[in-house]
Amino acid sequence: TLDDGAFSATGSDTQWIAECCKELRRNRCVGLPTETVYGLAANALDAEAVSAIYAAKARPSDNPLIVHVSSMRMLRALYYLPPASSGATPPFLGTANAGPEGAGAGLAEPVAVASAMADAEARDREQGGDGVWPEIPRAYHAVIRRFWPGPLTLVLPRPACVPLAVLGGHGDTVAFRFPAHPVARAAISACGLPLAAPSANASGRPSPTAAAHVMHDLSGRLPLIVDAGACDVGVESTVLDAYSATAHVDGELAPCILRPGGVTYEDLRALGGMWQRLRVYRRDFTSAALELAPTTPGMKYRHYAPTAPVHVFVPGPQSEAISARMQAQIDTLALKGVRKVGVVAVAVAAAAGDDVPAPAFVAPAGCELIVHCVGGARELAHSIFALLRELDEIEHVEAILVQGVVDANEGLAVMNRLTKAASHHVLC
Ligand code: TXA
Ligand code: MG
Repeated sequence: TLDDGAFSATGSDTQWIAECCKELRRNRCVGLPTETVYGLAANALDAEAVSAIYAAKARPSDNPLIVHVSSMRMLRALYYLPPASSGATPPFLGTANAGPEGAGAGLAEPVAVASAMADAEARDREQGGDGVWPEIPRAYHAVIRRFWPGPLTLVLPRPACVPLAVLGGHGDTVAFRFPAHPVARAAISACGLPLAAPSANASGRPSPTAAAHVMHDLSGRLPLIVDAGACDVGVESTVLDAYSATAHVDGELAPCILRPGGVTYEDLRALGGMWQRLRVYRRDFTSAALELAPTTPGMKYRHYAPTAPVHVFVPGPQSEAISARMQAQIDTLALKGVRKVGVVAVAVAAAAGDDVPAPAFVAPAGCELIVHCVGGARELAHSIFALLRELDEIEHVEAILVQGVVDANEGLAVMNRLTKAASHHVLC
C-alpha cells in the first residue's frame, strides 16, 4: 500500500540488498535502477553523503536533488525528525527486513516519530480534515493516490531534517518521489533512509537507462551499481509544483509542470477541478508565449547531449515531408564531408492497426548511415537516451538526426529532452 510500502526480498535477492544497505548506511553513493532512469543514490539526511553525489557526477551544486521514499509513512515521518545536524544517528524509517536478521537489525525505529504522526492525524481530524497525511499539502492528495508510486516528483515543503545541500541553495522546498521500480523500493525500504538521487549520468550527458551507461560515465567513482536491466519509461519523472510561489498566480493555486516526464500533462489534467488550470513550463519550445518563470533550477543547464551534434526535426502536418527534410539534411552533411551519420526515425501509423511504413533513407556516396526506427512517441521516449549513447559512444557517428514527434502525451517529455540535446539544431 501507499502507507506502509512493505517490500520483502527473498532468496538470491537478499545479497544485493545487504550490499546496497551497507554502502548507503555508510553514506556512500550507489547506482540504482528506477522505472524512469538509473539514479545515483545516497542518504538524503546526510550533507556529506549528498556532497558525494554532486562530486561523483560533477553536477553544479546549485541544481537541487530529488529525494526518493518507499512509502507515504517514510515521507510523513521526515516532518517529525529533528533538524539536519552532523553526527546524529540516522533513523530507520523502512519496513522491509527490519527484523533481527534483516538490514534494519539493530537500528532503532523512531517511536517518537510514529506517535507524532498519529497525533497530527488526530489533530487534523479534530479540525475537520480528512484524517490523512496532514503534513502533505492537500492539493497533492489526489495526485498521490492516482500516480504514486510512479514517475512523478512533487515539490513539497522542506522537512527540517533534509540538509540544505539537497536543495542546492534554492528556497524552502524539496522535490520528493516515490518510485515504482521494485529494486529502488526494496533498496530504500531496506536501508530505511530516504535517498537523494539525480540521474546517474556524468553531468550534461544523456541520462542512463541501463547499468552499462552508469558504468560508462561513473565507473571507479561508486562502490556499487545494481543492474536490473533497461528502464521502462526511459525519460525522467515529471516534476510537478502545486505548492511553491511558482505554483501561484495572484494568490491562487495554479499548478505547474516544471519538467515534463513519465506522467503526462494530459494524465494530470484528467484529474479535473483545479488541474484544468495546469501549466507547463516550456522555455525550450518554439512558442515563447508559453514561457513561464521562474522555473526548476536544473533547466538552465545544457543537458542530455552526446558529443556528436544532434539535429531534431519537428513534425509538420505530413510525415512524408519530415523524412524528405531529413534526407536533405543527410545530403547536405555529406557534401560538407561528414562520413558517418546516425538516424533515429519514427514509423508513424496513419490510423490504429495500419501497417507502419518505416521511412527509407538513401546513403549519399562516401557517407555511411546507421538507421534506427522506433514505433511512436512512447517507444521513442523509452529508447532515445540509449540510442543517442549507442550512436555516439559505440558507432562514433559525426552527426545524429532524430525525427521528432508531436509534443503531446508521451511526446512532450521526449521532445523536451531532444530540443535540449540539439540546442540550436531544432529544425521546424
Ligand atoms: O526520474 C527521475 O526524476 C530521476 C530518477 C533517478 O528518479 N531523477 C532525476 O534527477 O532526473 P535529476 O537530478 O537529474 O533531476 C532533478 C530535477 C532537476 O530539474 C531539478 O532542478 C528539479 O528536479 N528539482 C529538484 N528539487 C527541486 C525543487 N525543490 N524545486 C523545483 N525543482 C526541483
Ligand atoms: Mg538529470
